[in-house]
Amino acid sequence: MEGPGCRSGRQLILGIETSCDETAAALVTADGRVRSNVVSSQADLHARFGGVVPEIASRRHLELVLPVLGEALERAGARLDDVEQVAVTRGPGLVGALLVGLSAAKALAWSRRLPLVPVDHLQGHVASLYLGEEPLEPPFLCLLASGGHTMLLDVRERGAFTVLGETIDDAAGEAFDKGARLLGLGYPGGAALDRLAATGDPESFSFPIARVPGLDFSFSGVKTALLYAVRDLGADGDARRADLAASYQRALVRALVERTREARAQTGTEKVAVVGGVAANSELRGSLDDAVFAPLDLCTDNAAMIASAARYARALPYPDYLAVDAYASREAA
Ligand code: KG4
Ligand code: ZN
Repeated sequence: MEGPGCRSGRQLILGIETSCDETAAALVTADGRVRSNVVSSQADLHARFGGVVPEIASRRHLELVLPVLGEALERAGARLDDVEQVAVTRGPGLVGALLVGLSAAKALAWSRRLPLVPVDHLQGHVASLYLGEEPLEPPFLCLLASGGHTMLLDVRERGAFTVLGETIDDAAGEAFDKGARLLGLGYPGGAALDRLAATGDPESFSFPIARVPGLDFSFSGVKTALLYAVRDLGADGDARRADLAASYQRALVRALVERTREARAQTGTEKVAVVGGVAANSELRGSLDDAVFAPLDLCTDNAAMIASAARYARALPYPDYLAVDAYASREAA
């Protein structure tokens, strides 16, 4: 409602995300309503290389960041004057890619004397649960499974978590993508593998589930097992692709579900949530049916989750943020 004493403008958080191959901008209100959420994926550009080429990603972010930002403002029916804070992913991710978003965010915030909130990408994924009509309230156990990370997090309050376990080799999304590649599904193939698996028999092949100590994960063995299965089938492999996809997906999902259940038993946490690109997987969504899943459009990388996380992170006042740097990995944070 507009009127005296009720400022209609300057109440939006502008989120910017460029950590990998999605250029994204979003406008979110302080109480977690998503006014716009624009994601421009570069996947097609990287597909012929079978993975993200960092230098190409950075250049494409440069071309896209302003148009994507303009589109986010337009869809929200907002102007830059309505923005009261700029939030941007600082890491982990590809440093060159991150720097494009970070520089754009700094320039925008600086030119308008606004505060800037550097956001951790993983906190962003968790904060995808705090948007919309029914935001999740901590404490909860969170499975974060994406193309770059696979972790079990103990979330006691918004804006903080403790890592209970993580992958010791490949991330779950990476395992989906590598499997998809072996099955000729292109890059990034997680969603395509999910669709193909729906038409196959998940019991036709028995792929191993690695059981590493503690609450960690390992996905390199199952990927190699798929490689051998495809090789052994030779020319017959084509006809069995759906069965291979279904059985492979079954092994990946089982590994995620088992560890999540173990963590829940160990911590005694009542609520379980799942976030990150792999949270879009239909079998995982069906297998952890008592868990809260991030909304489908907020599972893969986006900027609404970054703006959401900014609400629970430290804002740097103008102009203290000009020297803020990006970081590639969590250890360097
Ligand atoms: O969170 P995200 O967009 O990027 C990272 O932060 O890494 O996750 C992308 C990952 C990719 O590996 C992609 O193949 C996977 O999420 N993914 C899926 C599905 N949709 C996306 N994996 C399995 N099933 C899906 N439906
Ligand atoms: Zn991500």
